[in-house]
Formats: sequence, C-alpha cells, structure tokens
Amino acid sequence: MAVSADSESPPPVDGVENSRKVSRRSLLGAICGLSAVELSASRCSRHESLRPGQVAIPIRDLAPGRRVIVIVAGNPVEVVRGEKGIVARSLRCTHWGCVVKWKQEESAYVCPCHEGRYDATGAVVAGPPPQPLRSVVVRVSNGEAVVGDGNVPA
Ligand code: FES
Repeated sequence: MAVSADSESPPPVDGVENSRKVSRRSLLGAICGLSAVELSASRCSRHESLRPGQVAIPIRDLAPGRRVIVIVAGNPVEVVRGEKGIVARSLRCTHWGCVVKWKQEESAYVCPCHEGRYDATGAVVAGPPPQPLRSVVVRVSNGEAVVGDGNVPA
C-alpha cells in the first residue's frame, strides 16, 4: 500500500521541532541533545569521550522515578532512574515511528497515531505495534549517565 511521505512521517517531538522561533535555550538544547523542556532541569555535559549519537546526563539530574526525555541522534529517548538502575528506551512507536507519551493515569505509553499501547516495561499491550519499545544503552561514567551507543534505533 502506497502512503504519502507526509502521512507516514512521525509527528515532531513537543517543544523541539514544533517551535519556529529558535530561542537561546532551545538552540543550546539542540546542541546538547536535550529538549528545551528538559534543559531547564538538566545541564548539558561536555563529556570528552562522547561519540555522535550519545548524550550525557549528570546523575544528580536524574531524581529517582523522574522521566527525563533527551534527544539522541534525533530520536526522543526516555531515561528513568529506578530501583534496578538507570533505564532508557526509545519513545518511537515500533509501528510507524510516532512518538509515544507516558500516561501516568493509565500506567501506559500511548501512541497518538493508531492507539498503540505499551505497559510500563515497554511491552505491547494493545494496537498494531509489532514489537516492544526499544531499549537504549546507558552507561554510567564519572557521575554521568551516557545514553546511546551511537546507533540509536529510528
Ligand atoms: Fe504507533 Fe501506529 S505509529 S500505533
């Protein structure tokens, strides 16, 4: 089935690509790989060993249970510090790549495009997604969580 590029294009990440005005904060966020929203709470790291497609977040900015969203290689990635350590997952739906959002009241990630739903672990619970949300590598180094291995899934 042929579908136009516009209908297949995933929606932009809120607060990043929707803004036509480039504020100083959003420009810095783009450079650091952070959304303008998250930049207010997270400072960009100048980690010497970062490769393209990696973002470093100071551990002090990852309060337990807080969902921090960073942009890694152009993709939204959620980073959460939990009881089992720091976990990162792509927020790209595995169906057509729309950006899912965590709905606390439903304890689920919900895709706005075709009503795909994922549980808190990223497993598919409803809708057309063929696979769980993708995990993203996190490595802790020098008080920072280094997110991504330079090969973030689309
Ligand atoms: Fe998410 Fe289709 S793109 S359900």
